[in-house]
Amino acid sequence: MTSTAFPQYPMPPLSLASTIRLSSGYLMPRIGLGVYQIPIAECPRVVWTALTAGYRHIDSATSYRNERPCSIAIAASETPRSEVFFTTKLPPKLRGYEKTKESIHGVLAENPELDGYIDLYLIHAPYGTPEDRRGQWRAMVEAQKDGKIRSLGVSNYGVHHLDELKGWIDAGDGGVISVGQWELHPWLGRKDIVGWCQREGVAVQAWSPLVRATRMEDPLLALLVKKYGKTPAQILLRWSLQMGFTPLPKSTHDERIRENADVFDFELTNEEMDTLDTEMYEPCSWDPTKERI
Ligand SMILES: NC(=O)c1ccc[n+]([C@@H]2O[C@H](COP(=O)([O-])OP(=O)(O)OC[C@H]3O[C@@H](n4cnc5c(N)ncnc54)[C@H](OP(=O)(O)O)[C@@H]3O)[C@@H](O)[C@H]2O)c1
Repeated sequence: MTSTAFPQYPMPPLSLASTIRLSSGYLMPRIGLGVYQIPIAECPRVVWTALTAGYRHIDSATSYRNERPCSIAIAASETPRSEVFFTTKLPPKLRGYEKTKESIHGVLAENPELDGYIDLYLIHAPYGTPEDRRGQWRAMVEAQKDGKIRSLGVSNYGVHHLDELKGWIDAGDGGVISVGQWELHPWLGRKDIVGWCQREGVAVQAWSPLVRATRMEDPLLALLVKKYGKTPAQILLRWSLQMGFTPLPKSTHDERIRENADVFDFELTNEEMDTLDTEMYEPCSWDPTKERI
């Protein structure tokens, strides 16, 4: 097997402060803290720990119901708002132009600590009709022009959804797809989608980069754990970074939040990257890329 998707060899030296320049012109930090299922009461401590450890990227969503504690924690931290890259997402149940406009307005109205802008706004899933999706994008493009959103993107779009959106953009609807977010790990490589993004200059974020801790004992990881003296989580995150992805590990534990950021002192070889290229399709959660409508 050869390494085909996003070859990044030799790797440029990376650190937790490393960023990717998006097609919007803005910089996106190379690792983000995922906050899905982090309870409201725990969220401030978790975000504080992450910012203190050097994270500068938080991945939330309106449907996670924790934008509020995240933005309060950012404001209460010693990190200026301008140095934090905050993502949120349009809830999957909200369809079309008006609902999207209202939702973006709601996020900013309820979270004045965000200083009037969202760094990255994603359509959480390609549900609804093509017209719904077109309206959602149109509202996002307008919000970007108004300075309410800095970079636009989609999550869980299949290649057919990406082609559909590119068609509208090419037809004059405006906007640029700067980021796409998908479940990605060695057991779910999605080479078709990743290849599309590579051709179109779309930065790829990896959700569930730790496979929700379900594969930590996998023999594929064991040899690398031993060789590098790193944990299975760190091997998975290093794989993700070397694939060119921006992983979004979630943890509620302070020591794991720090562990997940300690991945910059080793590098997997090309051969090791190839052993992790399983070509399997084993999602650990939902997969809206398969939506046909
Ligand atoms: N766009 C989408 O549709 C979508 C869908 C799902 C997720 N996401 C985003 O991606 C983020 C990450 O995905 P995820 O939360 O599903 O899963 P994940 O990050 O792959 O895994 C999280 C699980 O791994 C555990 N864990 C974290 N660090 C660990 C370590 N060093 N050692 C052992 N276990 C560790 C966590 O437990 P503890 O918390 O107990 O430490 C938790 O059970 C989400 O938080 C969210 O921001 C997006």
